[in-house]
Amino acid sequence: MTMPTDQENVQAKVVRYLQTAHAMEQQSLDSIEGLARQTEDDQFKQALALHANETRDHLQLLERRLEALGEATSAVKDTQNKLMAAVSAATAAMRPDKEGKNARDAYVTAHLEIALYEMLERLARRAGDEETSDLARLIRHNEEAHAHKIVAMWDHFVDLSLRETNMG
Ligand SMILES: [Fe+2]
Repeated sequence: MTMPTDQENVQAKVVRYLQTAHAMEQQSLDSIEGLARQTEDDQFKQALALHANETRDHLQLLERRLEALGEATSAVKDTQNKLMAAVSAATAAMRPDKEGKNARDAYVTAHLEIALYEMLERLARRAGDEETSDLARLIRHNEEAHAHKIVAMWDHFVDLSLRETNMG
């Protein structure tokens, strides 16, 4: 049995990160669609609808990249995440200060993804896998643009939150 080289180890990790990213985007899509259904605010709804479309593109790009590397998406991670997203969408609809908490969730989710793509970009570069590195950067830029949109809306979210009768 031959031991994998360092380079092979790094590339194997790239694949696992790609699979994690795919599972994360899958969960993200479910949660974005859930938030878009729940919010009564047009501006937030629009931002979420746009990001849902971007997320569908991200999923496709990640699937294509994994295929090109001869790998599949991780069905186990995808299923787990889908279940978690279903639970969180159900509780998100009922909780007090729905709009405020949903805005914070959208912001946190975007940044979890940004952190993952920052690492994937660098990891892939070390593996000499420039295509994956470029893809990670491209998706991260989309996530950052989405996060900036939320940042620009903080005052608006405070207004929405104050308007809610159930402000818990
Ligand atoms: Fe995303």
